[in-house]
Amino acid sequence: MAHRIVSTNPTDLDLAASVLREGGLVAFPTETVYGLGANALDASAVARIFEAKQRPHFDPLITHIASREDVSRVARDVQPVINELIDAFWPGPLTLVLPKHDAVPALVTSGLDTVGVRVPSHPVARHLIDVAGMPIAAPSANKFGRLSPVNAQHVVDGLGDAVDVVIDGGPTMHGVESTIVDASDGDHVRVLRQGAISEEELQLILGSRLVSVSESEMKNEAPVGPGQLPNHYAPNTRLIVVNSVEEVPDVDVATSAYLAFSTPPRFHDFAAKEVLSREGDVREAAARLFDVLHRLDANEVSVIYAEWAPHEGVGRAINDRLRRAAATWS
Ligand code: TXA
Ligand code: MG
Repeated sequence: MAHRIVSTNPTDLDLAASVLREGGLVAFPTETVYGLGANALDASAVARIFEAKQRPHFDPLITHIASREDVSRVARDVQPVINELIDAFWPGPLTLVLPKHDAVPALVTSGLDTVGVRVPSHPVARHLIDVAGMPIAAPSANKFGRLSPVNAQHVVDGLGDAVDVVIDGGPTMHGVESTIVDASDGDHVRVLRQGAISEEELQLILGSRLVSVSESEMKNEAPVGPGQLPNHYAPNTRLIVVNSVEEVPDVDVATSAYLAFSTPPRFHDFAAKEVLSREGDVREAAARLFDVLHRLDANEVSVIYAEWAPHEGVGRAINDRLRRAAATWS
């Protein structure tokens, strides 16, 4: 079936929900990035996600539910510390890794006995899950290892007819994926992926129960969850992360793109250049990151040089994505 782009009006969402019920694939907006959704309880529908993305089966999917009451449909043994996190951050961009319910096919979790779950805050995502009446397994709607999609066009460009329906809900708000935490020991909480909820925000709720990742991160040993491969989020163009424009060899300038964090680069001679946030705001920078990388990637440049963000708040998620994008080429 050729892909069909629909709007977010209720009739179109009903159509998308019926495609999901029939085992089809629907790309939909969330507050983080666009997801590629299928019925999480239908193993053959889930298998189509892996095919469409060319994703290896060892990389588990996140299950999206419409409200916290549905968590018992996909997970078990929800501990008090989990309820504190749910109270503070759901609906929103926090994925909890919990002991898995038997109803969830092993394909969704790559055979793990845990499942990643979140309630998205995007009204279209919640409405879709609600109308479809099922938990929706959804990775980001891009080919495996490539840049994440933050608008409907990115989905169409990356996946084309591998997806049945694309719901166009405009650009996403956060622009980086959800933060993933493992709280399966019921006491301490460990960050598996930096994302739209910052470590500082988690710290406010968890205090000493948050196992800090900052230190290992500084040493460039980012925590690795299953599927969190060191190379990921890659543009087609080679990407190199730098501290400042001073690190770019002069001979490269005319043929390269430069992605500055807040201060425009001193050189005016780059083939393409972008600034993530003139105000130096990490949230604004994160929201623009993938869109800007998609645009720089569309230029005929030999290298994209990208500046590290300040290592605080959502800046950590930006640096995680840049580090992994660069790893593809090193
Ligand atoms: O913001 C997001 O989280 C987006 C939107 C669509 O919700 N989804 C997303 O999915 O980023 P994806 O597939 O691109 O990344 C999900 C990652 C996997 O690579 C894996 O590392 C982790 O979630 N994950 C899923 N289930 C897990 C589990 N049971 N244990 C540990 N990590 C898990
Ligand atoms: Mg992804």
